[in-house]
Amino acid sequence: MSEDIYAPATEVQNIAHVKSMEQYEEMYKESVNDPEIFWTKISKDFYFQKQPTGKFLNYNFDVSDGNKVFVEWMKGAVTNVCYNVLDRHVENGKKDNVCFYWEGNDPDDSKVITYGELYKQVCKFANVLKDLGIKKGDHVAIYMPMIVELVVAMLACARIGAVHSIVFGGFSSDSLAERILDGKCCLLITADGVYRGTKLVNLKDIADGALKICKEKKFEVKKTIVVCHLGPMSPPSDKKVSSPAAKRPCMSLVTNFVEGSDLWYHDVMSNASEECKPEWLDAEDPLFMLYTSGSTGKPKGVVHTQAGYMMYAATTFKYVFDYHDGDVYWCTADIGWITGHSYITYGPMANGATSVLFEGVPTYPGPERCWQVVEKYKVSKFYTAPTLIRTLMKYGDEPIKKYDRSSLKVLGSVGEPINPEAWRFYYNNIGEKKCSIVDTFWQTETGGHTMTPLPGCTPTKPGAATFPFFGIVPVLLDENGKVIEGVGEGYLVFKQPWPGIMRTIYGNHPRYEETYFTQFPGYYKTGDGAKRDKDGYIWITGRIDDMVNVSGHLLSTAAVESALVEHAKVAEAAVVSLPHKIKGETCYCFVTLIDGNTFDSELITELKHCVRTKIGPFAQPEVIQNAPGLPKTRSGKIMRRILRKIAVNNREFGDVSTMADSSVIDVLFANRPTSTS
Ligand code: WT7
Repeated sequence: MSEDIYAPATEVQNIAHVKSMEQYEEMYKESVNDPEIFWTKISKDFYFQKQPTGKFLNYNFDVSDGNKVFVEWMKGAVTNVCYNVLDRHVENGKKDNVCFYWEGNDPDDSKVITYGELYKQVCKFANVLKDLGIKKGDHVAIYMPMIVELVVAMLACARIGAVHSIVFGGFSSDSLAERILDGKCCLLITADGVYRGTKLVNLKDIADGALKICKEKKFEVKKTIVVCHLGPMSPPSDKKVSSPAAKRPCMSLVTNFVEGSDLWYHDVMSNASEECKPEWLDAEDPLFMLYTSGSTGKPKGVVHTQAGYMMYAATTFKYVFDYHDGDVYWCTADIGWITGHSYITYGPMANGATSVLFEGVPTYPGPERCWQVVEKYKVSKFYTAPTLIRTLMKYGDEPIKKYDRSSLKVLGSVGEPINPEAWRFYYNNIGEKKCSIVDTFWQTETGGHTMTPLPGCTPTKPGAATFPFFGIVPVLLDENGKVIEGVGEGYLVFKQPWPGIMRTIYGNHPRYEETYFTQFPGYYKTGDGAKRDKDGYIWITGRIDDMVNVSGHLLSTAAVESALVEHAKVAEAAVVSLPHKIKGETCYCFVTLIDGNTFDSELITELKHCVRTKIGPFAQPEVIQNAPGLPKTRSGKIMRRILRKIAVNNREFGDVSTMADSSVIDVLFANRPTSTS
């Protein structure tokens, strides 16, 4: 464990919302001892048409007496999140403030959208949705690239009380279909396609594939709205700067446009009115659902509600990035993940912030792209994932030094544990020792940051997520649920609710209780391990369930296994996490073939393809190994801890007495592909 400690950047500290650890501790104490008082004060910064009818916070975390788990913040209060992130700023004289600098995949493709313009687009699209019969409580699937229309679509849903379910544009038809079906979505919003670097992704094709699967399962999505992003049909008025993308030879990208069920976005928008009153909603009505991997392989539709989520995203954004007017903020995540929901759309916009909305790949056309964008917009707050930092480390200082990064003040990290080496590179080489680093630990389920430094006060240690955010009470437990005090390592759980915590798994409340609240009654279980050092710092050690975190994307090993066993030649598959230099972790797959089949490179390619089509390209396994037998217990349970050792070529297994047939181990070692040893 590294012991160097870094003081917050002076420039950040001088003007910070929280300037000292004493101030942090005072606020923190109130937030956990009197959460209702703490969050009531914060709620005054937002517009509520009506105040809560009962208690500000009402909840139960304890399933032990057969009670239901529930969390309610501000129940009975009436609000609208879209109103709070848009109308409020337009009414307060911020209509000409820049909301997004949209930066396309190509460096010379960009446009600017103000709060006032975005407000108009959102009202228009909300009217489009209403004209299609979409109403409060309906579910809308969104499968789009990182373009302004994606923000328009999600906020239009929020405006009319429809629940958006955004599916990351890197998912396959199968994955999209699974999410549309589980979420019972009645409308799909997509785009013709997108370039990611030099790679063209035909989103409409993939979306069509998904709808076909839905139809086969007797579920019909009647309408699809298609944004013409690449094609030549977008009205010139929509493009402030002529787009190089528009000149690409992709005029016939959408070949299967079905009149009637498919609608062009620009057509339906052309006559829509710019006025649309927000639908006033209960604080606990759902705002959106977002699928995250579950250890059983079936994704979970995480449900977030209105007021609590909004206040939590907004407050974490304000304090963790120490946001001030004049800042330009850039989060490189995709809106298809929770990071984009909370820290591109809702959190920044609730604060009236100016952000970069980046369509492309951070290393395209070259490894200097990030810093070119930082210089162009004078980005002051930058938020990315360790995997990108590690990728950039490979290229050294030259691409970084090419551009002026003096505007940078706070550098954030999210998605996976950041190794101290990458942390130091972030601090020294990218931030030139003048920026505060915030390593933010949180989850789709938590809605916003839970363990994080504050950039104006927390002394940081490379690799530590440090201390809890306001309202979070972290506890370390041992296997038996006993609290670990002081220095130690165990399960990371949270003791009481914060406003941003998920309220349920869509359509499956028992699974919500089972996954997060049953093993340790009275606590929310994160699924991660953590250790506490002698100074009380919390270090996240990673997942302790069957999850793999590939470049910050959480995958369940069960989902990869079920993709593999769909191949006609595969009898059984077991997938474990393999440490990876750039991606953090990746999948190491053991497959047992049905008798009579041969394991060869062609099969490996086919199996990789299976995972790409079943889940998405980002899930492609690193290693696939032939496993004529798998290590199992006598009751037939696969012993993954043994497989994890084989994956890293380590023969120290510890106790193998529960194994049914230990002779498989030598065979598995003999079959290891040589390139990974
Ligand atoms: C899992 C949640 C939160 C937005 C992106 C991922 C891991 C996330 C950190 C961090 C160590 C981290 C955890 C967590 N994780 N941030 N700063 N340090 N681990 O959201 O897909 O819901 O994944 O990502 O394992 O449980 P997600």
